[in-house]
Amino acid sequence: MKIGVFDSGVGGRSVVNAIQKELSGTEIIYVEDHENVPYGTKSPDELLKLVLPILAELAIKSDLIVIACNTVSTTLTETLRENINIPLIAMEPMVKPAAEQTKSGTIAVCATPTTLSSNRYFWLKNNHAKNIKVIEPDCSDWAYMIESKAIDHTKIRRRISEVCERGADVIVLGCTHYHWIEDDIRVVADKFGAKVIQPEQAVIKQIKRVLLQLA
Ligand code: DGL
Repeated sequence: MKIGVFDSGVGGRSVVNAIQKELSGTEIIYVEDHENVPYGTKSPDELLKLVLPILAELAIKSDLIVIACNTVSTTLTETLRENINIPLIAMEPMVKPAAEQTKSGTIAVCATPTTLSSNRYFWLKNNHAKNIKVIEPDCSDWAYMIESKAIDHTKIRRRISEVCERGADVIVLGCTHYHWIEDDIRVVADKFGAKVIQPEQAVIKQIKRVLLQLA
């Protein structure tokens, strides 16, 4: 079985590492769109033009595809599923688990501007976090910082401190690029007793389910 993994850039590589740890024998074909990263400030139309041809080609070589990009997953999954004939596994902000786990009634979702303005994200909040306060800190330059290896650790830690001070006790990493700064974020979150969650393990479970169905 071959698993295609796609992201705009290095975010997807952290997902590839996690999949390889759990499913060591599986062949992974990783594709990124380095020329057009970051995706997180692009419109759904711009994204569709970029992503559809890439995934159509990746689908020829793969048995299933993981869209290791919250920005693409929250804006395009439905349209992509109509056009691509192999299973697509999407990654999106873990609003539901965060809402279930919060004790303070406040969560923070760190994600790109395009994810935060997507219909799917609104749906997630409306359906799972209606009575929860959701803080969306400005992370608009984080993916670019991480991609270009120019991470401003102080800025990131300050932003996380702010959301914790405002009462967030669960912090959702809603962009796969941020998995690379998870340790940084955890250092601050730990001081406030806040949890940090991201969807790699849930996605691996889903991959296993799909692989069983395909076998
Ligand atoms: N890693 C992607 C995500 O999960 C996209 C980041 C970007 O290219 O802006 O949203």
